[in-house]
Amino acid sequence: MKEKDFSRILAGGDLAALQASSHNFLRLMAYYQCAMMEIETKFNVLNQEFSLQFDRNPISGIKTRLKNPVSIKEKLDRKGKPLTVEAIEETLNDVAGIRVVCSFLDDVYLLADALLKQDDITLLEKKDYIQNPKPNGYRSLHLIVSVPIFLANEKRPMRVEIQLRTIAMDCWASLEHQLKYKKDFAFTQEMMDELYTCARLSTELDDKMNTLRKIARD
Ligand code: GTP
Ligand code: MG
Repeated sequence: MKEKDFSRILAGGDLAALQASSHNFLRLMAYYQCAMMEIETKFNVLNQEFSLQFDRNPISGIKTRLKNPVSIKEKLDRKGKPLTVEAIEETLNDVAGIRVVCSFLDDVYLLADALLKQDDITLLEKKDYIQNPKPNGYRSLHLIVSVPIFLANEKRPMRVEIQLRTIAMDCWASLEHQLKYKKDFAFTQEMMDELYTCARLSTELDDKMNTLRKIARD
């Protein structure tokens, strides 16, 4: 397909353009969905194997999400790119997103290493916000990977964003997100300081729980 502008759809373009574009867009979204399922299965397999070996689950929960069309458009706008399927695939790393909430801190790295060792996974980008938290206190391990999906006549590499974090990190990030997106409200410096303190407390909790886990295992 040539550079076909999805803004024509949103602006009410002609029917043929709408059908062609939406068909290709929906197909691309289906591919991202498949890639997300591949990665989710890989984590479920690792969780199974680990629970057989060590009698405990390193994964507390997995959430997957496809970026919605409005967010896709907003991000392409921000990056000065056109709203086309080509631009989506070339520019965006986070159309397919998977969040793996881990039981203990060590599990984050254990799972990340085990995934990245797999020979069909290519690491494209790694941001370790656990070793280097964001200034507001946000912590998580972010990976952008490429994983192939196998279609009837083709093998297609797809990009997936993976966020690995502990229960405490997830708790902080979920609540901070809720506060941040409250309508017509901006954080005061005092609130940012309080949130940072909460992030430090969550780090302390992770460290203490991780130490307890090591003691319990030995
Ligand atoms: P985005 O444009 O937000 O995707 O930023 P980026 O491409 O620089 O990616 P980054 O790895 O920094 O963050 C991507 C995702 O991590 C976000 O979409 C959030 O889900 C999560 N995230 C990053 N920073 C924060 C934060 O300060 N608070 C919370 N709650 N989530 C965050
Ligand atoms: Mg994002």
